[in-house]
Amino acid sequence: MTEYARVARALRESEERFRMLLAGVKDFAIFMLDAGGRVETWNQGAERLYGHSMEELVGQHVSTLYTPEDLRVGRVDEELAAASHHGRYESECERVRKDGSRFWAHVVTTALRDEEGRLRGFAKVTRDVTEKRKAEEEKERLLRELKAAVAARDEFLSMASHELKTPLTSVKLNLRALEHRAEKTVEQTEGAGSRRLVRIHGQIDRLAKLVNSLLDVSRITANRLDFHLEEVDLGEVLQDVLGQFKEELDRAGCALHLRTDVGVVGRWDRLRVDQIISNLLSNAIKYGPGKPVEVDLQRLGKSARLVVRDHGIGISERDQERIFDRFERAVSSQHYGGFGLGLWISRQIAEGLGGRITVHSQPGLGSTFVVELPLSGLPGGEE
Ligand SMILES: Nc1ncnc2c1ncn2[C@@H]1O[C@H](COP(=O)(O)OP(=O)(O)O)[C@@H](O)[C@H]1O
Ligand SMILES: [Mg+2]
Repeated sequence: MTEYARVARALRESEERFRMLLAGVKDFAIFMLDAGGRVETWNQGAERLYGHSMEELVGQHVSTLYTPEDLRVGRVDEELAAASHHGRYESECERVRKDGSRFWAHVVTTALRDEEGRLRGFAKVTRDVTEKRKAEEEKERLLRELKAAVAARDEFLSMASHELKTPLTSVKLNLRALEHRAEKTVEQTEGAGSRRLVRIHGQIDRLAKLVNSLLDVSRITANRLDFHLEEVDLGEVLQDVLGQFKEELDRAGCALHLRTDVGVVGRWDRLRVDQIISNLLSNAIKYGPGKPVEVDLQRLGKSARLVVRDHGIGISERDQERIFDRFERAVSSQHYGGFGLGLWISRQIAEGLGGRITVHSQPGLGSTFVVELPLSGLPGGEE
């Protein structure tokens, strides 16, 4: 065999392999257009995707594959011009099969130029992305639904808590009036009626607290948790709260160990700080009955540091961050009641005041919650 014959054969074989490769690709339509947009080659993938056979399509203009809408706005020329200008043009659009049905196509159009730089035609590689699009659309639909559901829940919470608050306030007012009267006749009834009223009072307060925490959810969600800053002695607030919790601590058999610095004074929102302490204490009692509760208030430089420690059920490592999120709980609702809002609200308040709240805990041994609040009001707070 002459040198020439060997080269020619090698060339033919190489060309043959290349043709087989193109023809064999079934997942992509790969075809070429001449410079005017007429189809020059057409592979098996193109046959499969568009439904036209090679005989039918070679020589036809590529516009056969476009939707009437795209043709009306001059998409064909636009794409070819863009590919010719930039060398390459990529798009995702609808295309039409031989039977008239449509699919979403991802199309890369590449301009082919000869050695002198003259435009010879275009190569097009097309893939069917209908499934991908469908999945994306489905995901978007689900996301929209989810957002709507969350919005509906928040709206419901906000409405329900407002509605519940009105009758509660009225019951409380009436109760106070009754209490006054009972105090006057306390001799005759030996205080029994009055004691009962006190108990009802306690229950109403509990209900009011629950309703308030629901109200807080809607406030926080709507970014409307505002702070009324004033000079606050944290030790005083602590004593107040402990006074309110005395009976509950006794009933649960929790001995209180208290240690406080004097004069831990800062600019805070009294009611909001009260709320943090109440939430932590009620958790310590709820999740550590029969065990002592230690409360420690310190001034550390320019911050106040409050520690509430219990010796109850504790919290596993993997739940320790989650419990500060809204509605998150690490216990079964059969054993412990609650909304899972206390810690979330407490963290929102602490962070709103420029501070933070953290937990250290070991399951079975107890939990320690630490609240740190800067003394000097806060940068982002309003008065
Ligand atoms: N002192 C604690 N000991 C053990 N677990 C706690 C304690 N405080 C909070 N938790 C866990 O964190 C979860 C969230 O607490 P919280 O937001 O106060 O909601 P709730 O008390 O209504 O469940 C609780 O459900 C519980 O699993
Ligand atoms: Mg709680």
